[in-house]
Amino acid sequence: MALLSVKNLSFAYVSGNLGPLGKKTVKPVLHDVNFNIEEGEIFGLVGESGTGKSTLGKCVLGLLDYAGDILIDGIAPGRTKQRKLLAAKVQGVFQNPGAALNPVMPIARLLGEALRISGMRDKDERGRRTDEILDLVGLDGSVKKRRAAELSSGQKQRVCIGCALVFRPRLIIADEAVSSLDVSAGAQILNLFSDLRERLGVALLFISHNLEAVHYLSDRVASLSGGTLSMV
Ligand SMILES: Nc1ncnc2c1ncn2[C@@H]1O[C@H](COP(=O)(O)OP(=O)(O)O)[C@@H](O)[C@H]1O
Ligand SMILES: [Mg+2]
Repeated sequence: MALLSVKNLSFAYVSGNLGPLGKKTVKPVLHDVNFNIEEGEIFGLVGESGTGKSTLGKCVLGLLDYAGDILIDGIAPGRTKQRKLLAAKVQGVFQNPGAALNPVMPIARLLGEALRISGMRDKDERGRRTDEILDLVGLDGSVKKRRAAELSSGQKQRVCIGCALVFRPRLIIADEAVSSLDVSAGAQILNLFSDLRERLGVALLFISHNLEAVHYLSDRVASLSGGTLSMV
């Protein structure tokens, strides 16, 4: 069975309809999208700006009310309102790591809090797991006392990936995760995703408008255009 199975996914943004004379505007974005991601697979998604790549990622993360089926291990966690179940399996990493992190909280506390929220009650265990996560994302122990505001963009993105790993996800949705980084920091993050797949077997939906990065990293690539998906 596929790790992620997306069947007949459609989505439209509906806005407006304010007051009795208001009009609704409906903007269809995804029409009957179908694809699978296998366990440990890196699946690339490309497409022009505004074609609905982020919308697709948000549907998989359970953040939008879509039509169709999104199954993880054959079940539809986004539909069951079991947010914890979905969080444990699918996590997101986004474009702007600076905005995603509290700028003044030391990194050890930031990861420690995330671990506590994930249900890890023992402080020593949280400390050990923090060290393990930092090692996985290629940061040394000296960052623990530092604050996000003191880190480079690449280091911040590594911390964001570390936060995603807190939940031991099986799938990471990386939406333009290297797009705000300079070329060398971006290349290092691509290699980190590849390492994490090797070490943890975690699958990746790698969304980017950067064709070169997508082809470098991905096992398979699909392109979104006019609301429909086709394999490249
Ligand atoms: N919250 C929203 N409300 C209405 N329209 C939106 C919203 N978010 C995105 N859109 C529109 O949906 C389309 C797809 O957006 P998006 O998924 O962000 O594309 P991409 O990530 O491929 O650039 C765009 O035309 C965008 O303007
Ligand atoms: Mg986008």
